[in-house]
Amino acid sequence: MKIDGESNNYWRRISVGCTIKTTVYLLILAFIFFALLWNRNKYTNSSESLLHGNRRIHQRTSALPLNFFDPKHQDYQRLVDLNDFYFTIIDPQACNATVFLLVLVSSAPNHLHHRNIIRTTWGQQRIELKIFFVFGRVHDKNLQKDIEKESDGYGDVIQGNFLDTYRNLTYKTMTAFKFVLYHCNKASYVLKIDDDAFVNMPLLLNFLKNDLSANGTDNLFLCNVKTGSMVNRDVHSKWYISEKELSNDYFPSYCSGWYTLLSPDVIFRLYATTQKLKYISVEDAFIYGIARQKANITQKDFTRFTLAYRKEELLFNGTYDSQPLLFGAPNMSPELIKKFWLYFRNMFVLRSLGAFSKK
Ligand SMILES: *[C@@H]1O[C@H](CO)[C@@H](O)[C@H](O)[C@H]1NC(C)=O
Ligand SMILES: *[C@@H]1O[C@H](CO)[C@@H](O)[C@H](O)[C@H]1NC(C)=O
Ligand SMILES: *[C@@H]1O[C@H](CO)[C@@H](O)[C@H](O)[C@H]1NC(C)=O
Ligand SMILES: *[C@@H]1O[C@H](CO)[C@@H](O)[C@H](O)[C@H]1NC(C)=O
Ligand SMILES: *[C@@H]1O[C@H](CO)[C@@H](O)[C@H](O)[C@H]1NC(C)=O
Repeated sequence: MKIDGESNNYWRRISVGCTIKTTVYLLILAFIFFALLWNRNKYTNSSESLLHGNRRIHQRTSALPLNFFDPKHQDYQRLVDLNDFYFTIIDPQACNATVFLLVLVSSAPNHLHHRNIIRTTWGQQRIELKIFFVFGRVHDKNLQKDIEKESDGYGDVIQGNFLDTYRNLTYKTMTAFKFVLYHCNKASYVLKIDDDAFVNMPLLLNFLKNDLSANGTDNLFLCNVKTGSMVNRDVHSKWYISEKELSNDYFPSYCSGWYTLLSPDVIFRLYATTQKLKYISVEDAFIYGIARQKANITQKDFTRFTLAYRKEELLFNGTYDSQPLLFGAPNMSPELIKKFWLYFRNMFVLRSLGAFSKK
């Protein structure tokens, strides 16, 4: 009996202990649940407002005019004012299926290290994502051999036959667009970005899926908008444009070239318009400003979701723990890109930019 009593007590103690533990666990779970619910509400409330209605971004209704994009079409060999364009490196089958987000990285031919950092950080393989690096021709035969080896290894290199120089940057962007339209036109969204920038990829994918549409949209053109920029008339500047090339003293507002987020229909309109214009080497002002205006396209400013130029220290003092950052600044070193990636990898990913887009 005594033994039984003792064992009863023993069991009761355990079961009381259990009840307390269970209650504590339940309380913790409930707390987590409400915290999540609260966050969810905080970030998804009226995500519709600015991103849809007012801004004329809407869900995709129709497919692109696909028959235009036959490589046999004479447009294929034209690149603004060049009549003998071809891809020196391309796998025409590399992007023959649907892809949610196509990333085109404007790269410098000798930036193998930049490309490798991107391949192993924000540009890592994912089901929703396909990434390609775009650049032009080089004189250096050894470098070309290395590039071909790299292409054989990764299958993500696109090279056009124009000479890769700063004043030929417009050709590079147009080559990227040509690739989308002729060889990768089943993409829902396209991100065009430089090889020295950072992308907060999980947040970007959430934004596209949850704030826009998992099926893609039309009329999407997001970037950091520059307004009131003067045309550079200093002959020694790398941005110099003569009055003969362009008589206006100011550019129309344009997207800063280091990143643009576009839907394929916008790429089509920018590309088709630029093809008909006289070549101007300041790529972003030309394609995203002059051609954009001629094509009657409006862009939406996303500066508040990007890191300000040379403000990298803001990341590491906690500024971006509570507000969303989609894109890192231009001119980042590969090492800094990796540091950013490691930092964001350990952070809670917002489901939506909704609450922030109201500001
Ligand atoms: C896409 O290309 C791959 C080879 O890279 C091929 O196996 C596949 O059948 C192609 N798909 C279509 C739809 O053409
Ligand atoms: C731009 O590319 C074209 C075509 O390859 C080439 O003829 C021209 O020299 C290049 N221009 C500059 C400024 O590098
Ligand atoms: C996306 O497309 C699928 C299939 O066409 C459709 O069932 C679904 O409702 C669409 N989703 C949205 C958010 O439009
Ligand atoms: C440009 O777009 C606006 C608004 O969508 C429209 O009212 C206007 O007629 C268009 N202009 C041209 C030249 O297409
Ligand atoms: C981070 O640094 C910036 C600029 O140096 C400053 O304005 C901001 O208040 C800092 N934020 C925190 C949380 O320390």
